[in-house]
Amino acid sequence: MNRPSDIPDTQRRQMLLGAAVAGLAPLLLSACGNAAGDRQAGSQGTAPASTASTAPVARRRLGPIEVFPIGLGVQWNPGKGTDVANDLYSSSTDRAAGIALIRRAVDLGVTLFDTAEVYGPFFSEALLGEALQGVRDKVVVATKFGFDVDPDTGERRGSTNSRPEHIRKVVEAQLRRLRTDRIDLLYQHRVDPNVPIEDVAGTMKDLAAEGKVLHYGLSEPGLQTIRRAHAVHPVAAIQNEFSMLWRGPETSVLPLCEELGIGFVPWSPLGMGFLAGMVNARTHFGEGDFRAAVPRFASEALAQNIVLARLVQEWALRKSVTPAQLALAWLCTVKPWIVPIPGTTNIVHLQQNVAAASVSFTDAELAELNAALQAIHIEGERLPPPVLNATGVEAPAKR
Ligand SMILES: NC(=O)c1ccc[n+]([C@@H]2O[C@H](COP(=O)([O-])OP(=O)(O)OC[C@H]3O[C@@H](n4cnc5c(N)ncnc54)[C@H](OP(=O)(O)O)[C@@H]3O)[C@@H](O)[C@H]2O)c1
Repeated sequence: MNRPSDIPDTQRRQMLLGAAVAGLAPLLLSACGNAAGDRQAGSQGTAPASTASTAPVARRRLGPIEVFPIGLGVQWNPGKGTDVANDLYSSSTDRAAGIALIRRAVDLGVTLFDTAEVYGPFFSEALLGEALQGVRDKVVVATKFGFDVDPDTGERRGSTNSRPEHIRKVVEAQLRRLRTDRIDLLYQHRVDPNVPIEDVAGTMKDLAAEGKVLHYGLSEPGLQTIRRAHAVHPVAAIQNEFSMLWRGPETSVLPLCEELGIGFVPWSPLGMGFLAGMVNARTHFGEGDFRAAVPRFASEALAQNIVLARLVQEWALRKSVTPAQLALAWLCTVKPWIVPIPGTTNIVHLQQNVAAASVSFTDAELAELNAALQAIHIEGERLPPPVLNATGVEAPAKR
């Protein structure tokens, strides 16, 4: 691996993290910001001490919503043992530490918090609602409906359910769990193949008129479904998987978002930890780790795909950032209306991810990095077949 200077890795990491925590990193030119935005942020004067580390970074727009360039994904399930919270992979925390992490994110200036009814189910929304007590008005709460979850037991009853009367019931329960009177951004988690999108968008419009759902979005929809929804009531954001590991949205979804003025929120922006330096060619994903069922992480595919993780690590060293920061900052270069939502259970990782908003690339660096990315072929599907089949679905026509 290339080592462009003789500063040891550990020392680099400490310098970087120190800069981020001390609020120095955001003073650098930002890949996630832009020149106009930086001037605007600078003209707002001195920021409160609690957000000083992120204040100079330009905000980004998801349609009409303005947010800090890096959000936080809150996708935790109850684990074995009292108050244990597991992510989908191999990390876990406990309820109190999870709440402290979310509050730390608010202090660092993060404004976009992403969760869903089905995460837990209910568990993540309740935890986020508790964590945001007293700071709720400073942030953008994003959640999702759309799977058929029993409202009493939390049991998953098969697949999707976006019938308007079901959406309304889910929203009432979400408002209670999130301890708020409005959801800032509500996504349909997956397109319901039995419900016309016009009915869903119409319900969002009605809920907006009632002040309960301020904006809405769609996750992993078909292209025509985006257009049809937007024609009924403007879509604020599309939330799809997008990272250096999965670049599918670049073909059609991002151009459509650009055409319609819709923001884009990449999920799994760290490639489920793969891009963050947490995986090597021999990593075996254990029971309970979602990646164990993902074709691109199966051992033969992984042995080939690891070349991407190595590229990210080389560039991270070259840029004196962490691999996670490199991956997030790259996403921010793709479009100025992209806001990644990395998930983490680790407060040090959170701080690194937030500081990624201040990592910049020269044009020459970006051209070189993009050419190297282009040359890498990723082997294996991004999701297990039944999960993949629920993406890119077009809603049925309205009769
Ligand atoms: N709309 C959808 O269908 C959908 C699907 C999946 C996810 N999402 C949303 O997207 C969010 C993020 O996706 P994700 O959690 O699947 O994947 P991700 O953000 O790509 O990766 C999360 C993994 O990366 C690790 N990580 C995070 N920051 C790190 C850092 N700085 N250094 C090293 N490792 C780091 C985490 O472990 P640690 O905990 O140890 O840091 C965790 O294992 C979710 O929370 C959820 O809100 C939406």
